[in-house]
Amino acid sequence: MGAIFQSLGRTVTAGFVLLALILGIVGAGQVDLMSHNWWTFAFRWLHVTVAIMWIGLLWYFNFVQIPSMPKIPDEQKPAISKVIAPTALFWFRWAALATVIMGLGLASMNGYVMQALTLREGVVPIGLGMWMGLIMAFNVWFIIWPNQKKALGIVPVEISEKPKAARMAMLASRFNTMLSIPVIFCMVAQQHGGL
Ligand code: HEM
Repeated sequence: MGAIFQSLGRTVTAGFVLLALILGIVGAGQVDLMSHNWWTFAFRWLHVTVAIMWIGLLWYFNFVQIPSMPKIPDEQKPAISKVIAPTALFWFRWAALATVIMGLGLASMNGYVMQALTLREGVVPIGLGMWMGLIMAFNVWFIIWPNQKKALGIVPVEISEKPKAARMAMLASRFNTMLSIPVIFCMVAQQHGGL
């Protein structure tokens, strides 16, 4: 047991093995891996999984890391800026991209990608959620990440530029935190009678 949990890779693999067991036992005779419905479901599950990684890290930045920075002594700050933040940003930006790809895939499997994006009757909640999610992903890749690269010293810039870049990244991150609240509502509302 200890050998599994000492390695993140083995822990995640164990999660998938457990899931396969559940599918094999509970889903036996019920799950049709060849059906469109099941694959639509699988895309929904993957979409929600990567969205949790993305929004979990967004909330970690906003609820934990940013408010804690002023309380950390200067000589210890590099542990965050040089080690933790770059790793968190790696998973954060790729999870954002995966959420968009899975979300667009799911919408097209549901047969309403264009209807939703043009906010047609019946798919307004998910359409609004998709637009807000796309704006958030744009922010991640084109505002937060480029500015974080400057602020964290991943790309060389004048020292005077760093505080401006850090502030810009922080404001875009706060903007995304605001949007995450209606986005999650809209995403869930479409199928479950919320709107
Ligand atoms: C911003 C982060 C996002 C989060 C946290 C998120 C989360 C979720 C959640 C929790 C569901 C509900 C699944 C269910 O109730 O069965 C969902 C559904 C969905 N999401 Fe997202 N999502 C995000 C972004 C996106 C984006 C960018 C797109 C597409 C551009 C998208 C497209 C969809 C679609 C099509 C569904 C299925 C709705 C349905 O018919 O039930 N999502 N999402």
